[in-house]
Amino acid sequence: MTTVEGLDRSSDEALEGICKSSAIIYENKYEFCRYSLKIARFINANLGFSAYVWEAGVTLCRYFEKEKISFTGKKVIELGSGTGIVGILATLLGGDVTMTDKPNILNQIENNVSINIPTACRHRIKVRALTWGKNHTDFPTVYDFILGSDIVYSSVAYPALIETLRYLARQGATIYLSSELRKSNGSPSFHEVLLPRYFNCQIVDRLEGKDVIVYKMSKIGTTPDDPLPSQE
Ligand SMILES: C[S@@+](CC[C@H](N)C(=O)[O-])C[C@H]1O[C@@H](n2cnc3c(N)ncnc32)[C@H](O)[C@@H]1O
Repeated sequence: MTTVEGLDRSSDEALEGICKSSAIIYENKYEFCRYSLKIARFINANLGFSAYVWEAGVTLCRYFEKEKISFTGKKVIELGSGTGIVGILATLLGGDVTMTDKPNILNQIENNVSINIPTACRHRIKVRALTWGKNHTDFPTVYDFILGSDIVYSSVAYPALIETLRYLARQGATIYLSSELRKSNGSPSFHEVLLPRYFNCQIVDRLEGKDVIVYKMSKIGTTPDDPLPSQE
């Protein structure tokens, strides 16, 4: 995974350190679809990979911009929101968005929602705890779009991630996954072998000179003999 942090550090307005409670928050600015986003990262709060804006997330936002994707009137769920950059943009682009991550990441996402989403749109955004393979059945299967950026990076999590995707994806839903492919974590075979067992998968964008790829997916009809993968 490559962060875009280095790029942002060189810009004048990139970093603003604020000491708040025990976490140090850095804000970076991004422009997509004529929206200016300020994304804060809690860098001193043990949030690990969640405390970065990943290149795959920026690439997915750029893809929405290039393709003029509108989420107006659509129900959207994001998995592994991290800082929330993708789900926040999807909300600004009209979606009714549920942003999810592990419970300890939600404060960071909520902070970014409060910075970026005007009060008039707040009713269209929710932030909820969703740990893959654990509590996805607490969520309805009503989503038109399922989004995820840089959520394919740890092979131990792949069976749970597939289980959650298969549960949430109703027939007709569109899934956008943006991933940086690395042989070391098995992400190429996750995308090229495992996901195509359950989903129609199409590459719709890639970051020039990098292995960051945007996949558009939809569910293949399931059969009774097609059990969910075990988490062992
Ligand atoms: C590399 S970060 C990507 C964050 C953000 N989507 C981006 O592109 O900047 C991966 C995110 O997936 C979340 N994640 C990892 N394993 C998870 C699991 N089992 N259940 C839910 N979220 C998980 C992490 O907490 C983290 O926020």
